[in-house]
Amino acid sequence: MRSLLFTVALYSFATGLPNYHVKGHQWLPAGPRDSRSPCPGLNVLANHGWLPRSGKNIDLPTLQVAVSGAYNYDPDTFDGAFKQAQACNLTTTGNSSTFNLADLAKHDCIEFDGSLSRNDFYLGDDLHFNPRIWATTAKRLGLDHVSHDPLSKYVTVEQAAKARAARVADAMKANRKFNASENEMLGSPGTTALYLVTLWDDAVGAAPKEWIKSFFEWERLPFTRPLKQKTNDDINAMFQRVQAVKV
Ligand code: HEM
Ligand SMILES: *[C@@H]1O[C@H](CO)[C@@H](O)[C@H](O)[C@H]1NC(C)=O
Ligand SMILES: *[C@@H]1O[C@H](CO)[C@@H](O)[C@H](O)[C@H]1NC(C)=O
Ligand SMILES: *[C@@H]1O[C@H](CO)[C@@H](O)[C@H](O)[C@H]1NC(C)=O
Repeated sequence: MRSLLFTVALYSFATGLPNYHVKGHQWLPAGPRDSRSPCPGLNVLANHGWLPRSGKNIDLPTLQVAVSGAYNYDPDTFDGAFKQAQACNLTTTGNSSTFNLADLAKHDCIEFDGSLSRNDFYLGDDLHFNPRIWATTAKRLGLDHVSHDPLSKYVTVEQAAKARAARVADAMKANRKFNASENEMLGSPGTTALYLVTLWDDAVGAAPKEWIKSFFEWERLPFTRPLKQKTNDDINAMFQRVQAVKV
């Protein structure tokens, strides 16, 4: 087996991604006893030690510091999501002010069908990254198609919106128990808006394919902290753009 360090070195070399070296926040993938979620955004934070690397006992103040420190979101941006998780009664920590990352896999309160990179609950595993499902999304986003055209390095809002709608259509075909609640139908464009805003390269006005791969496939930060703070207004504006695309 390749050593972890070797894998890390190989990866940095292969992609030429900027190294994320904030003290104490280097990228280390989860160990076997660590808790991880169906949410790549939170797993990235745990893999970089912005959330506890164990993925356990996460409280709101810790989340606020993490989303600000790593992604430069306004610290309050995900307070609503955190409160929604509390309202879902999904925690297994025994303390209603905290949850473990894996608790978020509880189906149909936050977790929904037709995810970009996870399978549906009814079909088995709604928690772990699923390479087969992600491959369908990656293909639609053209992640491996980079040509001489500089724009081919980026995913557009239109591409992302179409890819997520196609994935939901796939899931509806594959899963006869597909749960088309309102939560699910807004969750899919919502999480697409979320990764676009999180991985937006302000200098270009688009999301680099390399960053999207790093975020989903390695659950690794692809950048050093963005200079401009992001807020719920940015997420809402991107949500409108995603929803405006005819799919
Ligand atoms: C308390 C804060 C958060 C909670 C409770 C949360 C929870 C979740 C859950 C349960 C899912 C699974 C939904 C599904 O079935 O696809 C999910 C997906 C997702 N989350 Fe989060 N999340 C939070 C914060 C974030 C942050 C900070 C980001 C980005 C920086 C993010 C990005 C995403 C993305 C892109 C997906 C879609 C994954 C996919 O479709 O495969 N989330 N989140
Ligand atoms: C969570 O528990 C509270 C208090 O027992 C209850 O009022 C609420 O309906 C529960 N929520 C869900 C989604 O089960
Ligand atoms: C529950 O978690 C909160 C937030 O971390 C903490 O302040 C509180 O002390 C915990 N309660 C117990 C009983 O451990
Ligand atoms: C989705 O699942 C929830 C909870 O399991 C259930 O109450 C609801 O009726 C389901 N909706 C559909 C459209 O099947």
